[in-house]
Amino acid sequence: MSEEVMFFLDDKPFKVRAGEKILWAALDHGVYIPHLCAERRRKEPFGACRLCFVEVEGRDLPVLSCSEPVAEGMRVRTRSDRVDRLRRTAFELLMSHHDLDCKHCARNGSCALQHLAKTLKVSLRPKRLRRIPAEAPIDDSHPEIVLNPNRCILCGKCVWVCNQSGGSGILDFVFRGLRTRVAPFRLEPLAEFPCGDCLLCAEVCPVGALTRKQGPSEAASPPSGAQECGEKA
Ligand code: FES
Repeated sequence: MSEEVMFFLDDKPFKVRAGEKILWAALDHGVYIPHLCAERRRKEPFGACRLCFVEVEGRDLPVLSCSEPVAEGMRVRTRSDRVDRLRRTAFELLMSHHDLDCKHCARNGSCALQHLAKTLKVSLRPKRLRRIPAEAPIDDSHPEIVLNPNRCILCGKCVWVCNQSGGSGILDFVFRGLRTRVAPFRLEPLAEFPCGDCLLCAEVCPVGALTRKQGPSEAASPPSGAQECGEKA
């Protein structure tokens, strides 16, 4: 039987497996911490989205809950002015590079970004940052999936699942800085590769960057309950 430790989450005591990351310990106990790039099955946390900050008593700076393990007696606060500010800024940074075209996105209504905007009480359209949309070509060549880099948040889940968890190993990050995006090897169209059609990449994508085809192209009209981008969530 694995060792357990006692820790405090917003002053409530919980017992969890020693070494468990704060994020998973919190979610297992019904306490939500915003997150996008965390994937429990990954051996090492990716730590890209910077949304999962929490305060840990005794630490000068907030820590990433997806990569910080729980320790005996640790006291964690999931909210503070500082943490809220960091999360909102991280979210705005993501959205400043996003195409914000929810109306034509197959994930409209079930997108993690829309959920986060609601949770963080912010608009999907950044207020403080200039928008620099990616404007990369959409890859519609595959019979089953569409890759739209302009909606990608670089969470790395598709790259991980494609290379290390049952996929065909064809997706990776390409370019650097603002131009960074996910693409198949040599930027060839997806259809050029012996993709096993596992569709795992579309399954793990939390946004509308990799979606299953719903017809000749992406969904032409939004599902009911769909949300306008740029409106207060
Ligand atoms: S979930 Fe922790 S950095 Fe993304």
